[in-house]
Amino acid sequence: MTMKSRFNAPIIVVSNRLPFILVRKEDGTLERKQCAGGLVTAVCPSVIECNGKWIGWPGIQLKSEDEVIPESNPDDKSPTAGLLSNQVEPVQVEPKIFDKFYNGCCNGTFWPLFHSMPDRATFSNETYEAYKQVNDIFAEKILTALRKCLAQLDEEGRMDAAPLIWIHDYQLMLAATTVRRVAEDEGLRCKMSFFMHIPFPSWDIMRIFPWDDEILEGILGCDLVGFHIDDYCLNFLDCCQRRLGCRVDRSRFLCELDGRTIHVKSLPIGIPYSQFAEMSRNAPKVLKEKEQQIILGVDRLDYTKGLVNRVKAFERLLEKHPEHIEKCILLQVAVPSRTDVKEYQALKEEMDQLIGRINGRFSKPNWSPIRYIYGCISQEQLSAFYRDSAVAMVTPLRDGMNLVAKEFVACQDLSDPGVLILSPFAGAGGMMQEALIVNPYEIEEFADKLHRGLQMPFDERLLRMKHLQRREQAMDVTFWLNTFLSAVGILPCDVNYSPSN
Ligand code: G6P
Repeated sequence: MTMKSRFNAPIIVVSNRLPFILVRKEDGTLERKQCAGGLVTAVCPSVIECNGKWIGWPGIQLKSEDEVIPESNPDDKSPTAGLLSNQVEPVQVEPKIFDKFYNGCCNGTFWPLFHSMPDRATFSNETYEAYKQVNDIFAEKILTALRKCLAQLDEEGRMDAAPLIWIHDYQLMLAATTVRRVAEDEGLRCKMSFFMHIPFPSWDIMRIFPWDDEILEGILGCDLVGFHIDDYCLNFLDCCQRRLGCRVDRSRFLCELDGRTIHVKSLPIGIPYSQFAEMSRNAPKVLKEKEQQIILGVDRLDYTKGLVNRVKAFERLLEKHPEHIEKCILLQVAVPSRTDVKEYQALKEEMDQLIGRINGRFSKPNWSPIRYIYGCISQEQLSAFYRDSAVAMVTPLRDGMNLVAKEFVACQDLSDPGVLILSPFAGAGGMMQEALIVNPYEIEEFADKLHRGLQMPFDERLLRMKHLQRREQAMDVTFWLNTFLSAVGILPCDVNYSPSN
């Protein structure tokens, strides 16, 4: 049975990673492995519904360009299960080039630079060349997928439908210009949009990148450019005006380039709220043994997340308020990430040493202050951690949005709600005002906020959490998706954007 689609054209989603990874089994065949985050959960059903496509890197080298992508397993309940293999376009890049692109330019240059940490960034012609090359490979894939989509639409007599190409994140900032040029030459109809999931830096930082003009023009190849918050939009507009001489309208978020008007939009991403809420209701109790209060941290092991400052603040708490010794623990989950990059290896070392030192300093025969999990945990377990923690510390030094803050909120049981400690340097920090906001660089104040969080009376915790939950429930990831897609004209504007349930 074919379901009537709400979309007036197919969507071609383009992201560095596909919504699942491929693994090669011992018998040599391929299998899908799920790695569904919030974006995948929200976007995948729409791609399936509109008969669209997803272009990205499958995490593995295929035997050939034509190696068949397996369908999902029959017992697969994940959001990608309905994505047919002919809707998936795996991108293949020679490993050496991919390494320079991914480890070199994406993670060695753009990641630190866009998080306003230019001292950590490296700049090289060679890695930027690889970045351009990979973006061109993606652009080729996009064009092939677009031609296929248009042929299908023409066959169905839908000559007025223009597919939406939706490019995601800093790994693919140049793809749109190439696609636009070829599409215009060949008369291929399409709409193009971009969403940046990380911060966009100020002009002073952006101009450090030697080829900043190319990056700005690349993004402006799209018709609609989305960021999480107004500040990032304004930074982007400022860069376009000062570097490219574009005419910009800061109140209506518009930018003009070569006679085209590009719409810029701030749209904070949300989470699949009801899914997390339900998971936490059903997850078995795993914590709160011995009546200890849990202080929770959950992050990719990344220097932008402020893990070192956080652990130091916890140490300061134990120094200043020894009454918490043996009464609370810090449970820090650090998910391994980008382990081939030097900065990430150094951070791993630093954390190991710091935690070892603090545990050595404060441990008692039956109690250690820090429990450190360096690895992945399931969403079910995570939701129980969220629910059973007294305090969550979401204290990045810089972060595009930060979804951990939102997941923590969704998982709270209002009969005993936890306290969220949040950094103002996360996109979420500007909106989730009912959290305890703390500057992660001020260790002394940070320790005081932790103390306050651990002692906060029930009524205050409840009041804060009720407000936080209401907002995140209303502005969930489905709301984000629908708002974005209606802004670009792929969903009719009269769709009722109520959050998913
Ligand atoms: C951030 C970025 C994503 C990226 C993710 C994981 O959330 O915005 O684009 O996929 O980190 O990083 P990785 O390098 O493992 O893809």
